[in-house]
Amino acid sequence: MPTPPQQPAMPGHPEFQTAFGQAREIGGWLTEAQARALWDEARQVPDGGLIVEIGSHQGRSTVVLAAAAPQAKVVAVDPFVGGAMFGGLATREKFLANLVRAELVERVDLRQAKSTELRPSWTEPISFLYIDGKHDYWTLSDDLRWTEFLPEGARVCIHDAYSSIGVTLGLLRHVLPSRRLRYLDRTGSLARFEIAAAAAPVSAADRLRILAELPWWLRNVGIKVLLRLRLYPLARLAGHHDRADPY
Ligand SMILES: C[S@@+](CC[C@H](N)C(=O)[O-])C[C@H]1O[C@@H](n2cnc3c(N)ncnc32)[C@H](O)[C@@H]1O
Repeated sequence: MPTPPQQPAMPGHPEFQTAFGQAREIGGWLTEAQARALWDEARQVPDGGLIVEIGSHQGRSTVVLAAAAPQAKVVAVDPFVGGAMFGGLATREKFLANLVRAELVERVDLRQAKSTELRPSWTEPISFLYIDGKHDYWTLSDDLRWTEFLPEGARVCIHDAYSSIGVTLGLLRHVLPSRRLRYLDRTGSLARFEIAAAAAPVSAADRLRILAELPWWLRNVGIKVLLRLRLYPLARLAGHHDRADPY
């Protein structure tokens, strides 16, 4: 999966621009608009709160979260898996170097572990959860169980929510019938959810909004197939103008 090309700066919050100026130099797949969505959520975390990020890679999203929320602690969970896409332990060194460069290394507690192995022993309340780890159905299903540590009203963001088969199937299986996890909206494929209050559980209208995203998901999966087959003109016909996957 090639890294997408850099995008022009979005107007907005000057501190965000500074943080994203650092993040955009870091390899990864988070777009500027998605970084802004994470930034806005992290800003809402209460003093002394905890942000957990599952899947950190070289630290692109970690830098955004840590810069946005000096009032909170950030735990970054990544086993630094090997292979051409993620790069193994060399990626851990890049992650640490990127956080040092951004002067945020002291603010981030790196747990080098699979999210599925860490979760069973986890006990701390979480204020904001960002899921961008392994994108298969089983891991995503387990990662959704981290939401048990979030209070009512807290937010969860999931990357590739509507551009990866495993992630979307996990959402359909576990979030669609859930009374506790309400789908709010998405920035590209970064979806935002909220822990619903027991007094106001997820409604049929909330569920319908997930189903309404499925045509967009199918379009993205179709584009990924066209890109793998190098049928770029057909992808352009579907409105996708670069060679990176839709995120
Ligand atoms: C798409 S990348 C994350 C990108 C990152 N959030 C960013 O903004 O650049 C996915 C990451 O998940 C990690 N990963 C793979 N399996 C994992 C697991 N079981 N638990 C946590 N992270 C995992 C990979 O090592 C990889 O670094």
